[in-house]
This record gives sequence, structure tokens and C-alpha cells, in this order.
Amino acid sequence: MAKKLTKRIVSWATVFFVITLLFCICNAINGCADIEEQKAKVIEYRDGRPRPARLDLPLQVSESLTPRYLRCEYLVNPLGIDVVRPRFSWIVDSGQRGQKQTAYRILVSGSEEKVNADIGDFWDSGKVVSDQTNHIVYIGKQLNSRMRCYWKVKVWDKDGKESQWSDKAYWTMGLLANEDWKAKWIGYDTSSLNEHTELHLPPSPYLRKDFSVSGKIKRATVYVSALGLFELSINGQRVGSDWFTPGWTNYNKRVYYLTYDVTDMLKQGSNSAGAILSNGWYAGYVGFALLTNYPKPRAIYGQVPALLGQLEIEYEDGSREVVVTDENWKVSTGPIRESDILMGETYDGRKEIDGWERSGFNDKRWLSAALFGKAKGVIEAYPSVRVKTTGEIRPVEITEPNKGVYVFNMGQNFAGRVRLKVKGDAGTKIRLRFAEMLHKDGNIMTENLRKARATDTYICRGTGKEKIWEPKFTYHGFQYVEVTGYPGRPSLDAVTGIVLGSDTPAAGYFECSNDMLNKLYSNITWTQRANFFEVPTDCPQRDERMGWTGDAQIYIRSATCNMDVASFFTKWFVDLADDQLASGAYPDYAPRPYRHKRDYSPAWTDAGIICPYTIYKVYGDKRVIENQYESMQKFMDFQTGRSVDFIHTTTDGWGDWLSFGGETPKDLISTVYFAYDAKLMAEMAAAIGKKADVRRYGELFDNIKEAFVKKYVSSEGRIEGDTQTCYALALYMDLLDENLRAEAAKRLVELLKENNWHLATGFLGVKHLLPVLTETGHTDIAYRLLTNTTFPSWGYSVVNGSTTIWERWNSYTIDEGFASPGMNSFSHYAFGSVCQWMFASMAGIDTDGAGFKRIIIRPQPGGSGISYAKASYDSINGLIELGWQIEGDKFTLEVTIPANTTAIVYVPALSEGAVTEGDVQAGRAEGVKFLRIVEGVAVYKVESGNYKFVSRGAQVTK
Ligand code: BGC
Repeated sequence: MAKKLTKRIVSWATVFFVITLLFCICNAINGCADIEEQKAKVIEYRDGRPRPARLDLPLQVSESLTPRYLRCEYLVNPLGIDVVRPRFSWIVDSGQRGQKQTAYRILVSGSEEKVNADIGDFWDSGKVVSDQTNHIVYIGKQLNSRMRCYWKVKVWDKDGKESQWSDKAYWTMGLLANEDWKAKWIGYDTSSLNEHTELHLPPSPYLRKDFSVSGKIKRATVYVSALGLFELSINGQRVGSDWFTPGWTNYNKRVYYLTYDVTDMLKQGSNSAGAILSNGWYAGYVGFALLTNYPKPRAIYGQVPALLGQLEIEYEDGSREVVVTDENWKVSTGPIRESDILMGETYDGRKEIDGWERSGFNDKRWLSAALFGKAKGVIEAYPSVRVKTTGEIRPVEITEPNKGVYVFNMGQNFAGRVRLKVKGDAGTKIRLRFAEMLHKDGNIMTENLRKARATDTYICRGTGKEKIWEPKFTYHGFQYVEVTGYPGRPSLDAVTGIVLGSDTPAAGYFECSNDMLNKLYSNITWTQRANFFEVPTDCPQRDERMGWTGDAQIYIRSATCNMDVASFFTKWFVDLADDQLASGAYPDYAPRPYRHKRDYSPAWTDAGIICPYTIYKVYGDKRVIENQYESMQKFMDFQTGRSVDFIHTTTDGWGDWLSFGGETPKDLISTVYFAYDAKLMAEMAAAIGKKADVRRYGELFDNIKEAFVKKYVSSEGRIEGDTQTCYALALYMDLLDENLRAEAAKRLVELLKENNWHLATGFLGVKHLLPVLTETGHTDIAYRLLTNTTFPSWGYSVVNGSTTIWERWNSYTIDEGFASPGMNSFSHYAFGSVCQWMFASMAGIDTDGAGFKRIIIRPQPGGSGISYAKASYDSINGLIELGWQIEGDKFTLEVTIPANTTAIVYVPALSEGAVTEGDVQAGRAEGVKFLRIVEGVAVYKVESGNYKFVSRGAQVTK
């Protein structure tokens, strides 16, 4: 195993080397060929690419089974949850082939002492004969507000051998009842203190309160929420490391609170709590409201941000004290003069208030906080991973396109902001503007930001000392930072990139022999990091950043390959259901602060089915189905209601958005998705035992399929519209029977050929194109499309210097320059949905059934000169690793199947006899069972463990 770890480190070094090399062969967009300048120097975030988080944990070397990575509701040691039947999961590791869990025992205790003494006073599951390691529902003592729960698990292996107890884990319960809240919503209406005219950007309210602590503190916990955004401090120290709290919801229906343990932040005697608020999504500018002249371009949910906080102190002697937000808090304004997610932040150092967040500060001149009544919606515990700083980036170059205008190139497009280092005289005003691209003259290209001002301003206080400043309540999508007003010429370290995003644990890794594809993969993951930002956004830079449903449904399966997004989407499903329309349709984006052109669009609205289904499928999560079921049924009734003889006749919708081909009929798109929804509903109904619905939705699918073929498909397999997307959708969604399938696939290939072997799909076709080519025996063409570097293709952007996935195939072309600035994001994940195929078919990792309990290992080598691929995927059942290689007529497949799972492994082979595993014929190897050989591929059932298959004479071409 140590060897394995070294191998991993080496392979990471190789990846970094490969990326570096790649930068060296890519030309920057404006013809700049100087590669060193393009090299992103990423610090702190490993080598800039996500890798499975659990690789950081010590790996198991023992032969027997050991449980680790204990999680409760997908989170490690969460504080303040409000799920009263939380679910547990863990991973079992073993170095032994075929090892599996046959039983488990969970202990949950109300104290650390008890759990240490193996006393499960809350719940002792006893020995449960089961191989289940995730989504195990707690059925112990009723959980009430504030309870602390410690837990651990032991397992029995295949031989009945009992493991040690795992390390202990814990969770705490939040405030479950409304009556638990003694705090009041407070705030300070600063909306008339706006210093600017063109935009309405009131200063941030500052709030404070001194309180005293006397007695030995056992524990102190703070529960805190805001309408808008908050930053809380205790005795001048920031509470937690989360940003953009408490997140974005439909605040009319719900608002989340967060829970932090602040025991170590308090001291005997006088203490102080301070908070800064910002308008955030609640009261700030949201999306394109300003651009589209929506009557309320800002303050859509409410006018003034408000804070709700409750600090509960438990003393050693059993007594308690509660400090709450109420009218006794004092309010003022401070140095944050403007703060808005889209517009940016302005900080005036001259308005700093020394000591305001410490006790003893004289706040006599501060006003009393205003009370804000109740929140309109329910208050619930934040259910997911939070937005965090996930990395730092050093700029690679400074240019000065105009006198005194400095442009920092960060070398990587990302979402976040910068930390500024400066020493200046009082009143020196430094302005930072952000952009993804440069114009030919070296100036930043901001046209594509539309109405997002994306400008941060820092005004020096003039202390004579160097100051470090980072805004708190804004973020931008950018690669370039324009700095003006800097005193003198800034050095490279005047600016540091701060990468922000929802802290979804890294889960995937991909590498192959084609450098362009490695860069493409890096671009995909960076785009995901930039857009998994509280909600799955379309883009991080312009005045949009909305949870567009179509983008999410297209990309979600790819997202799962790279990061563990189970908890992230679980939160978003609540947003989706909260903003489901009265008709039953899911909106174009969720949360949905306002209506845009239409209420919903085919293929966007279907995210309400496809996304929960994907989370179920990838993580085996049935609760997601249960939670969403009613809402999904309502949606299906809506879909049925608008169909005529199982066909949707609509001509409305976004269509195959941004396609480069002919138009795919919108009624066809809508009908195809209707069928797909029915199919997925039948499968989900089966998963939760709703038999009648399995039949009902199964029949619905059959009926739509029949009607679809009748209406849209000719006897030669021609589909109305005759676009690549028409065929990709119909084939992927299983709407054609065998004979028509073959014909349709043939036609798709013809279309590709007619298009000089280039894709022409928009958002909707792109995800399905390569999978259907592979399913219909055209993997070679899939590779050809994937490795293309001529326009339009994935590779075109890569060889033209991209570091993220672009919104449009022609976002930038050598001939035409930038596409229409009105809609031209350089960080849009939809076209990155090819990642799904890269994992499932190119590397060959997929799930058979739900939750990667049965794994499919099916590498599909197929040409375009690719001689090897490596991938890993940290599934809910453990880490799957794989590497295949072609050397002459030898095909090698190394694979790790996690303990307690099995895999069906496909090895290209002439005959069974031509395949070895280790030193023996594969079918005879320990843990391997030969099943069959079909069309040049030997198929094995494989138990958990590490394997090396070698197939000689297999007809595999690079
Ligand atoms: C967004 C898209 C979205 C689309 C709807 C755009 O402005 O950026 O990604 O799906 O609108 O067509």
C-alpha cells in the first residue's frame, strides 16, 4: 500500500508535469505564445486540480475490514442539523480480495464518555446482518434540540471476523422548534445612506453587543442566520470559515441558520459579539433583473438585511446563559461602504472603527438596532456543504496596457476574489476590476459582464503600514484583474487570487495520453468549482449566476464524477421544490427570484426529475426520491396534462440552446424529455417500493415512445428535424426499438460525416452524443469528436488558451474574435458534460444499479492515438481506481475495486485464454469469475481488491 501511495504521488507529479507541458504548447488567445506567462501558479490547493479528498486520510493496510470516513447526512461531524432521523455512512477498507461486510453495529451515545465506554445510550443497533454501509437511518432515542450525539461503528467481515470500533464521530442537533429561538431579527436600514447614484448600494450595517461571562464554560454554541449575508465575530475573531452564509433560498419560504461551536472564543468577564451584514441575494442585485428592466432590480426578497443570532453558553455547573440579538444591540456603519454580490465591494479604511468588535468599546454614539418582526419563511438548519475558500492563486504576470493601469494575469479563470496588499496615503483609492479575457490591446474585456459592475475599491487609511484587504460579500468570475490607483508600480504579490466555491469534496481524477484532453478535464473541473457556488449556477461572472435548471440537468452526472455533490444537490432540490410553479412545472432557474421570459422550458423543467434521479443513482440515496416524490408527481401530472395523445405540441422553450446545427424541433425535445421523465419515475418508484407507480410510469413511457415513433420517426429511422441532437436524444432516452436504433445511429454518423466529423449540438445534444455513439458501436467516432481541435469542438477552446469551459462553441474564434458580449461567458459547464463519457466510457467507470455497489469497469479504448487512460472515482462505497494501457498488441488493465463491492469487468480479448490476471489465466484468478466473451470482449465478475489484467493479441487500436 505504501508503494501504492508513492505511485499516487508520482502520478500526481506526472499530472502536474503534463499540465505544465500543455500550457507550454497552448497559444494564448491574443496570439500570445509566451507560455511561462500562462502557467497558473496555484498554491495551497494541491496542484490546482481536485483529487479525492479521502486520499489524504491514512489508507488501510490491514487484511480485515475497517470502517472509516464516518458521515452523518453526508457531512463529517456536522453541527446543528435538524434531520430527526439522520442517516449514517462509512467506508470499509481492506487489502484483501473479496472482502466484504456481513454485519455492522452502530453505537450512538449522548456523551463522549459513554461512547468511549461503548455504551450506546441513544442507540445500540446491535449486530445487524447487512452489507449496507450507507444511508443507514438512525432509529434510536428521539432527537431533540441541542443534543450532542457521538457515534461509532464496527463491522464483521466475510469470515465473521469482528473489526475494532471505528474512530468516534459526532453530530449535534440544532434548534428544532420555533420556541427554541429567543433571538429577534434585528438590523439597521442604511438604504438612505447610499453614497452613489447610478446604483443603489447602501453601506453594510455593523452590529454589536457586549456581554459578560462568569463561570466555567463547558460549551458555547451560536446559532445564527440572516436575511442577506452575515459575518459574525466574537471578541474580534471571525466565527467559522464559511462565506455567503446563510445561503440562497426562496426567503419567502425558508431561511437557513448555521451552528458554530464558539467555546474557545469566549473568555471570563466581558466579551463582545459583532456582526456585519450585506444585502446578498436577499436585498442586493440578483441576476439580470437590472439588465431586463425588471421593476425591482434589487431588494427582491426584502429591503433591509437582518440578523438573528443566539449564543448559548453552558457552564460546568449546569447553568445556562443565552445571549440573543434584540433591540439592545447597537448599530452603525463602518468601512464597508458598498457590498453587493454582482457589483462588488467598496472599503474605506478611513472609516474603520477601532475596537468596535471588542468589549469595552464605547458605542454610545451608535444607534439601537431596529427590530424586524418575523422572517416570512421557516427557519431551518443549513443542510449542506458551505461556500469556502478552496484555494489561493498567485498571479503569473503584470502588464501595463495604459499608464498606471496594471493588469494581473492569474493564469486561471476561476470564481472568487483577490486579496490586496497595499501601503498608501490616506484617501488613496485603488480600484480593482475583473475580467475573463483581454482585448487585443491588453485591456480587460468586461463587455460580457453586462450589468455586473464587478468592481472592488479599497481606500487607504494611511496608517503608514502595509494593509492586507479582502472583500467579504462579493465574488467575481475572472482570470485578469485590472488595478488602477495603486501607489507606485505594484509587485506581483500585491494581488493573491482567492478561490471560492461550495466545498464539495473532490471525488474524481482523470488523466490520459492526450494532453489536450487532460487540459480539457482540468477546464471542466475548474468550471465546476466556479459554478457550484451555493446553487449550481450557469456562470460566475456576468449579471446572472442563477441556478439554471437546464444547465444543471445536463451537467449533473458529470459533476458527480469530479466532486461529491450529494449534499450540494440535496439542498438545491429544496430550492427547486420551493419554486415549483403552481402548474407543477419546475422553473427555468431555482431559486427563482422573478420570472423571466417564460415560466419554464422543456429540458430545463425536467431537471426536477433528472437531477434527483441522478443523485439516487450515483449515491444510492432513496431519501432524495422520497423527499421529492410528491413534487415530482405533481410535475408528471403537469406533463401529462399538456400532452395530446402523449405528444407535447409546444413550440416554446430554449431549444437545443447554442447549437451550431439546424433547429431541433421544440415539440420533439419536450416529448422526448416527457418520455425520459416517465422512465426515470418508474425506476425511482421501484426504488422506494411504489409498485403501482412503477406500472403507471412504465406504461406512460411505452405510450410516449409509441407516439413518438409514430409522429417523428420514418420507417428508415429518420427523425423529424434530422439534427445530431434529434438522434442523440432519441437514442439515449431509449425511444427507438432495435431496428430503428440501428438506422438512427447510421443517420447520426452520416450527419457527423456531412459535418466533416464535427459536432453541431447545443446544450441538449452535447451530453448524449458520445454515449450514444459508444452504445451503437461508434466509439471511434466519439474519440474523433473528442480529440478534434478544429472548430467547433471541445479542443478548439483548449488549443486557443482556455482554462475553463466556454458558454458557446464560438465564444472566441480566431476568425471572428469574441462572440456577442451580451451572452458570452467563459465559465459555463454545460459543454463540459462530456466528462460523463470520459469517466464511463473512456476510462470505463460506471455504476450498475444505484450507488456503485455493483460497479461496471468497461474501458473503451478506441483510437485517436490514445494509448492510456487513468481515472479514480471516490464513490459512496469507496475508492475505485483504474488505469488501462495499450502497448503493441498488449492491453493492460489495472483496477481497484473497493471492499464490499463487486464489479463486472470488460477486457478486450481474442479469447478467454488470452487474458491473464496476475500470473494466472484471468478466469482462474482469485476473486475473478469468467462470465462470457462477446464481440471481442471478455467479461468477468470481480470481487473487491486490486487486479492487473493483461490481454494479448486483443484487437485494440490506439
Ligand atoms: C444562461 C444559460 C441558460 C439560458 C437559458 C442563459 O442566459 O446563461 O446557461 O440555460 O440562459 O437559455
